[in-house]
Amino acid sequence: MTILPLARMGNPILRRVAAPIEDPAAPDVAQLAADMLETMRAENGVGLAAPQIGVSRRLIVFRVPAARASGRTDDEPVGETVLVNPEIEPIGTLVSPGWEGCLSIPDLRGMVPRFERIRYRGRTLTGDRIEREAAGFHARVVQHEVDHLDGILYLDRMHDLKFLTYDEEFHHFLEPAAEPEAPHDP
Ligand code: NI
Repeated sequence: MTILPLARMGNPILRRVAAPIEDPAAPDVAQLAADMLETMRAENGVGLAAPQIGVSRRLIVFRVPAARASGRTDDEPVGETVLVNPEIEPIGTLVSPGWEGCLSIPDLRGMVPRFERIRYRGRTLTGDRIEREAAGFHARVVQHEVDHLDGILYLDRMHDLKFLTYDEEFHHFLEPAAEPEAPHDP
């Protein structure tokens, strides 16, 4: 496995629509997923999309750490997950704001509206179908990573750039006892 350099905002690969993967069980797809997981771990991230390591193909990896999961239905901790050709559909219309960062946009975080509940589908590395319902942080990280496959960055989703901050200034947005540690760095 190899830790790969990350494409950062400005690299045109982050703005391309990534190509579907014809055979999820192909060896080169397994290698790509392994390298992405290794890179995600090295960067201490919770998600990564193939275009972020310079590969314009529809593959994402993510995890939901216990510290980020709300524990509500469909927002429990999730181990490292690989999804090939993921697709999302919202469940309901409720949209919630939440803090996000991105390994391709280092040192910043912003308040991003996302669907609170989604259903997502894709394939595993053995070609099996995977279908899950997700809420809260779990739903947020999947929406963030699938956006990468369509050339969309979280900044594009923001409604108010006053809620864009450097990590080191983030504490100004936390009122004492008003807000738990907000999610970041999907
Ligand atoms: Ni990202």
